[in-house]
Amino acid sequence: MKSKTNIRRIGVFTSGGDAPGMNAAVRSVVRTAIYHDLHIFGIKNGYQGMVDNDIQRLEAKNVANIIQRGGTILRTARCEDFRSKEGRKNAFQNLEAFDIDALVAIGGNGTYTGAQIFSKEYGIPIIGIPGTIDNDLFGTDRTIGFDTAINTAIEAVDKIRDTANAHSRLFLIEVMGRHAGYIALHAGIGSGAGKIFLPEKHTDIDEVIHNLQKDLRRQKLFNLIIVAEGEANGGAMAIAKRIKEANYPSELKVTIIGHLQRGGAPSCNDRVLASRLGYAAVQGLLEGRAGVAAGVISDEVIFTPFEEAINSNKPLNQDLLKMAEILAL
Ligand code: F6P
Repeated sequence: MKSKTNIRRIGVFTSGGDAPGMNAAVRSVVRTAIYHDLHIFGIKNGYQGMVDNDIQRLEAKNVANIIQRGGTILRTARCEDFRSKEGRKNAFQNLEAFDIDALVAIGGNGTYTGAQIFSKEYGIPIIGIPGTIDNDLFGTDRTIGFDTAINTAIEAVDKIRDTANAHSRLFLIEVMGRHAGYIALHAGIGSGAGKIFLPEKHTDIDEVIHNLQKDLRRQKLFNLIIVAEGEANGGAMAIAKRIKEANYPSELKVTIIGHLQRGGAPSCNDRVLASRLGYAAVQGLLEGRAGVAAGVISDEVIFTPFEEAINSNKPLNQDLLKMAEILAL
């Protein structure tokens, strides 16, 4: 492909919460850039490395043997300095010193927001890649890391199911998702949970308690409830307290899966998605695209302006929600 731009030197970084598959995305960006005879630089710790001048040239061999690894070789951070004009000025001066003329930003909503502000202030072309386990980014069906996280979650839930069944206990299992219920919904459906608490939907605990008691009367002796950490009742601990206070007669346990969901080898789906988006981001920059996030919708790569990606909500699939209720009968 012939470049429509003068871009010769690209910086790549991962920012915000890490997600399995970020390494596969970095590898793809690096190798696609090298294929196009570009110089490629890794910026450490997200925006923090830009501010602190923690930047180094990457060669194809630097990204060997990482496609299968969780975490991010570039490391990541949530950067306070970059929120200030002064911090962003430092960051730009450091990029200038390396002659970096475009960026690929891998992360979530906060990463896109930083990229949008920075590109408006300094006119540097940036393309975003959706990397977060939460799957809460508009402009892509799936974010990098989501598939791995839901598989990690259901593996844990399946194990809990064995012991819950053996002891006839009720388990409340909290999964990640401060603002979004994608992980909870998918882990709940995939593990056959009796109930799913989501940030997007109010759940009446009294009604849940009533149904749990009905379950006991019909000899359903164990039950699994999946709770998204950001749901409105305060999470699994708070819900457990309410259920206990209502004198629920059977034993009740809480498991918070937590950061286990963020680590581990990425699934094949995440590796392929990350590879595709890394490749698309570099191609996109060379085609003259900027200020956009790459995504895959219905198996097609698309680019969404940061503005739209940041401000639009990706709603949960209502059919899935309804189906989850019906299948839990
Ligand atoms: O952004 C993904 C996410 O995993 C959320 O689901 C979770 O609430 C948050 O990150 C936790 O972030 P931290 O690791 O900074 O506590």
